[in-house]
Amino acid sequence: MTDLVAAQTGTRAKVLSGLCHAIRLSAAAVAAAFQIGPLLVSSAGLSSSGLAASQTAAGSPELQGAALLEFERGARLFTRSWTLAEGLGPSYSATSCAECHSSPAAGGASSGAAQFGVVAAQEAAAPAPFATLQQSRGGKVEARPIPAAARRTRAPSLFGLGLLSTIDASAVFRLEDPLDRDGNGISGRASRVEGTLGWLGWKASVGSIEAFVRVALRSELGLVPEAVAQEGDRRDVAYELASEDVERLSRFIRGLAAPQPKWHDAVGARVFNELGCHNCHVPTIDGNTPYAYTDLLLHDMGPDLADPFSGGAQPSEFRTAPLWGLSVAGRSFLHDGRAHSVEDAILRHGGEGLRSRNAFSRLPALSRRQLMHFLAGL
Ligand code: HEC
Ligand code: HEC
Repeated sequence: MTDLVAAQTGTRAKVLSGLCHAIRLSAAAVAAAFQIGPLLVSSAGLSSSGLAASQTAAGSPELQGAALLEFERGARLFTRSWTLAEGLGPSYSATSCAECHSSPAAGGASSGAAQFGVVAAQEAAAPAPFATLQQSRGGKVEARPIPAAARRTRAPSLFGLGLLSTIDASAVFRLEDPLDRDGNGISGRASRVEGTLGWLGWKASVGSIEAFVRVALRSELGLVPEAVAQEGDRRDVAYELASEDVERLSRFIRGLAAPQPKWHDAVGARVFNELGCHNCHVPTIDGNTPYAYTDLLLHDMGPDLADPFSGGAQPSEFRTAPLWGLSVAGRSFLHDGRAHSVEDAILRHGGEGLRSRNAFSRLPALSRRQLMHFLAGL
């Protein structure tokens, strides 16, 4: 349990002592945090039939074994701390994926102030989800002075992304209402990336888990798969990433279980709908996927939340944050962690979210409690 707490507070070293051990630990941490049974291993990477198939296939101990092994391989890469000799850098903001995605377990969200991606204003238009500013010297991550013009971006939790990835893009496109034809003050639009739906990142700027893994490897750790190394990338290292490693990491992410609700509060859910929260935090996009409370669309959230990094979206546009897992979320909310409670996050909604926000601030105490109880169970 001490090790578990160490993992959650980001003290990686302890967790990495004994790799097999580490993975079992994080599986236990996930199970504890999300109150799920044994870790769900999605076979989405092994067959095209997605999570439902893996659940039935879980009956077969053999396939479970093989899938679990693959998942563990990916988990090792995710928690692995890379060294300069193995290809880390030359510029990097962390030495492992888990350094930022650590709460409540490997694959989760950032837990501390140090675990933010940083976007420099001049790099804001860069195609990468965010550009790194940290440089390495002598094998150590330098103290990280953050330039005044830079913005911080919180690392979201990756739990449930595998399930979201099985949603048919056309179901998301059907939710678009760019001209607000239904007159509810909300005009979500889908992000389009190379002809497909962009749904990953705070700006929905990336279209697939694999693509995000590539970008994260390069921009966070300075690692490029050997096969695509270009001039300027380091070649003087014993282990730069193998191409299969991208797939292994993707498989790990797809295999991360979806957050399980702790309870369902039907009365609080009604308040949620009455306030219009469900217009963006759509409980389920296609009626089949468990409730993630997002439409995966971009919404204009007003000038106060605007972020110079646009990633193809307007500075004030953000993808509706999924609300599942709220019950195990840390204490910072919104893309830059500026909100320190759920109420605070709601009160900072502007733009298309203003009507809901104002209705929330007028709520009588009882209805407010009901809403908060509903949200606390997600
Ligand atoms: C320095 C901190 C940091 C490190 C290290 C890091 N990430 Fe992230 N990650 C972030 C931030 C910040 C975001 C949100 C980026 C955005 O929206 O533009 C993010 C977003 C993601 C997403 C999209 C999540 C979503 O819900 O849309 C994936 C997938 C991801 N990271 C995978 C990885 C992988 C794989 C690694 C290791 C190769 C990694 N990350 C390393 C900070 C980090
Ligand atoms: C117009 C669309 C829209 C409406 C309406 C809306 N939200 Fe949001 N919500 C968003 C977007 C977009 C974000 C992410 C904004 C950011 O990170 O800066 C968000 C973020 C949040 C977060 C923070 C989640 C996190 O992980 O940081 C909470 C909590 C939340 N909304 C709850 C609510 C509640 C409750 C209501 C109803 C009172 C509501 N929202 C109405 C779009 C909306």
